[in-house]
Amino acid sequence: MTEQDFIPKYSPEILSNGSVTWESPSNIALVKYWGKKENQIPANPSISFTLSGCKTTTTLSYTKKMSEGYSFEVWLEGVEKESFKPKIETFFKRIEAYVPFIKEYHFKIETSNTFPHSSGIASSASGMSALALCLMSVEKELSDVNVIQSVSEESFDDDYFNKKASFLARLGSGSACRSIEGDLVGWGWHKDIEESSDLYGVKYPFEVHDNFKNYQDTILLVDKGEKQVSSTVGHGLMHNHPFAEHRFEQAHENLSSLINVFKEGDLNAFIEIVESEALTLHAMMMTSMPYFILMKPNTLEIINKTWRYRNDTGSKLCFTLDAGANVHLLYPESESKEVVEFIKNELVAHCQNGQYICDQIGFGAKKIA
Ligand code: DP6
Repeated sequence: MTEQDFIPKYSPEILSNGSVTWESPSNIALVKYWGKKENQIPANPSISFTLSGCKTTTTLSYTKKMSEGYSFEVWLEGVEKESFKPKIETFFKRIEAYVPFIKEYHFKIETSNTFPHSSGIASSASGMSALALCLMSVEKELSDVNVIQSVSEESFDDDYFNKKASFLARLGSGSACRSIEGDLVGWGWHKDIEESSDLYGVKYPFEVHDNFKNYQDTILLVDKGEKQVSSTVGHGLMHNHPFAEHRFEQAHENLSSLINVFKEGDLNAFIEIVESEALTLHAMMMTSMPYFILMKPNTLEIINKTWRYRNDTGSKLCFTLDAGANVHLLYPESESKEVVEFIKNELVAHCQNGQYICDQIGFGAKKIA
């Protein structure tokens, strides 16, 4: 599909008001998206586990208006958030051609997260995907009353709905396009995945071994402070980065290798790819100009203790990192009991206020009746 496929045809009449609610999860990348081109096109393909417990719930209420321009208010956990408006304004500008009805309504966006906003867990993936899904539900309601004709006549099926929701979410925040579905989602063109696209995330189409079923992700909250460098700035520093081209190729290769790893259930190879991806992401930050470090001493303590635990016990526990100091510990469900014990005994001491969140692979966003 191309961008053109997401531009709807319009008739002037419009629904007067209504409200929709979606719940959408966060995701954790195994092969990382780091570096992008114009219009939120990724510099390399990425793949992620969709999470289950870490999610955002968003209600979008819409009222027909007469005035020109965008009109919206944003509320987080019952408190109006002026500070969220610029990001949403940018999002609206990027998506206007694909959802032209956004100019016709005043929106009230009410959102809440299952994880604390200041936890250092990025809410952009779950938040932007929830908002994109709400807008798609409005588009669907408009199309049901024939106000909008979707591009191809037969088309407003679930596949189109999800693809366009992912397409819109990507324009809000790149990684958000991987949160619509689950349990494994790829984003960015890759030669071995025919349906892959730079424009939206696609559900991983190949066989996945039972070893990865209900894979666990425990997020250790190392530093809950505001990051010194945002992801968006970090992505920008991949332009003219001395190692960028090689890094982008490496992501393609790692994704190719993962296809066999998922099929065979090869946990040792999985660990090697996932940990290398995490450290490469941070190595790219450290070798940008200007350079920066997002890991904290406790991040390294946790990594070292994880390696020691794996050596001592033969466990398949591994770590990955986002663009921050927090550590995601990934492990098979069969090891849950032992790993949680290990976390409590050895790692909690390195978490800010002893905080961690136990999550696992999930199956994507849900519409709330
Ligand atoms: C390190 O999706 O937050 O988490 O597109 O600028 O909003 P923007 O960036 P964002 O970048 C996330 C980067 C990452 C890796 C990943 O999730 O693949």
